[in-house]
Amino acid sequence: MSVERKGKFVVFEGNDGSGKTTMVGKLGEYLSSLGLNVVTTREPGGIEETFPLRQLLFDSRMKCDGMAQLLLFSADRRVHLLFQVIPALEEGKLVISDRFYGSMIVYQEEAGIPKEVIREINDYAITFQRERIDPDVTILLDVSAERGMLRRLGGGDINHFDEAKIEKQSARRQAFLDLAREFDWCVIDTTDLSPHEVFGVVVNALRRKGIIPEETYGYGVVNP
Ligand code: TYD
Repeated sequence: MSVERKGKFVVFEGNDGSGKTTMVGKLGEYLSSLGLNVVTTREPGGIEETFPLRQLLFDSRMKCDGMAQLLLFSADRRVHLLFQVIPALEEGKLVISDRFYGSMIVYQEEAGIPKEVIREINDYAITFQRERIDPDVTILLDVSAERGMLRRLGGGDINHFDEAKIEKQSARRQAFLDLAREFDWCVIDTTDLSPHEVFGVVVNALRRKGIIPEETYGYGVVNP
């Protein structure tokens, strides 16, 4: 199978409460309203074919270990690519995914799997006849651990958060930032921005990278 990539593939990564899901939804609606052919999706379990894998991963009775998680997330990714992402790219669509392999590198390493093992399995999962399906652009929505946790809970008092949880979120944040540097992702610190402001930065970044056309220029209020 050789993949004829006529479309573009954009991925959002980030920690809990970074606003990925909101941003993918807003961006999909906005770009569709401009007449672009957009597909929004997510991992894990973003399509009918992979939904059972999501149920398996998040079933509280199962308690998958790190290796089972790695294999299930990788299977999810390959099926997602096969049935959703690749066909859409071949049809010239703009595919926007909420999470991709960056999340696996961060979360499954946290679950105890060595980096090299994660990367090797992922290489198999995303390669089709020697061709890797990497995103054209990955946007990391960065957020401080405290703000991300507050957003997740919809408010509350930061003093009540347990130290261990904050430490875990901070370590994850750093792991995402390290990956962003390694893979040259676009990083947006959303900590002190409203969703509207983040949206403006995202649209401008995608325009600058040639993913979306010029007429989207100027949307939003922030132009980094
Ligand atoms: P989900 O319920 O989809 O919501 P959100 O993306 O808003 O957190 O959670 C997906 C969870 O799966 C999240 O905790 C990150 C994790 N994950 C992995 O551990 N490995 C992976 O490869 C992917 C794609 C996600």
